Amino acid sequence: MLRIYLFILTLCLVTVWQPVMASESLDYSIARGGKLYDKWFKVNSYSTPKLANPAYPDRGAYKNKKGADWRCKECHGWDYRGDGGAYSTGKHFTGIVGIFQADTISEAQLASILRGQQHGYTTEMLADKDLIDLTNFIRTGMVEMDNYINRKTKMVTGDVSKGVNYYQTICAGCHGLDGKEEDDVPPLGKLSNKNPWETMHKILNGQPGADMPAMRALDMQISVDILAYLQTLPKE
Ligand code: HEC
Ligand code: HEC
Repeated sequence: MLRIYLFILTLCLVTVWQPVMASESLDYSIARGGKLYDKWFKVNSYSTPKLANPAYPDRGAYKNKKGADWRCKECHGWDYRGDGGAYSTGKHFTGIVGIFQADTISEAQLASILRGQQHGYTTEMLADKDLIDLTNFIRTGMVEMDNYINRKTKMVTGDVSKGVNYYQTICAGCHGLDGKEEDDVPPLGKLSNKNPWETMHKILNGQPGADMPAMRALDMQISVDILAYLQTLPKE
């Protein structure tokens, strides 16, 4: 009799004791979508595209530059406004529209746009799962940067005295107190003044292919205060 009980008990334990897989949160998906938007081939397992993107116009300066012409941000901008935003002039000008207005897009609509002839992303370049994260990013992850960054002066309206605490406790472990410790990238003081939109996008979503955290689950003001503080760090 005891054996039977033990047998049943073991059976119950085995059925109950399944490894628990955490499901992905919406913020996780949005941040991953944001990193895909930035440089998808550093996020998924696809390697840097070798062929030039036929959709990238000749007037832009980034055709076939290490896959740059395949990055969403290269045509649609760090502020998601394409030729209506920071890429309206300069080397990155392509004349292509932004996607800020597309924030009600469905997964099916985005799939038909990206798999269509103009964009030409194959399932090897962007898997269906990647499209889900990109959809979540476009629907809820695009921030109205004009609320925080002055378009003319590029100055950020954040609280520097709070930003210093956030930066030193969250970021400085990797980037150093002066923002210059990651050798491969320009000093954070330089990037944040030159391109606050790019810096904001990366603070919220993380850096493709790096172990950098994405701040988007936290209050937006924290990221704004950090960005304001970055602008006070040494530029070289
Ligand atoms: C080589 C340039 C280029 C790249 C790279 C690019 N796009 Fe586009 N995209 C365009 C052009 C051009 C249009 C406008 C098509 C038109 O006029 O209808 C467009 C339109 C869109 C639209 C529709 C906007 C609207 O309001 O209808 C979405 C959404 C979009 N792109 C998302 C993306 C995403 C996501 C990526 C990266 C995976 C990406 N695009 C990469 C050129 C590009
Ligand atoms: C776990 C380490 C780590 C932490 C923590 C971290 N970062 Fe990073 N960050 C990196 C790495 C690694 C890179 C990319 C270096 C490379 O591409 O070679 C990077 C890149 C960046 C870039 C992009 C630079 C460029 O030119 O592409 C910005 C901006 C940035 N980090 C800001 C921050 C801020 C602000 C914080 C805090 C909110 C932060 N990082 C926290 C590791 C980290």
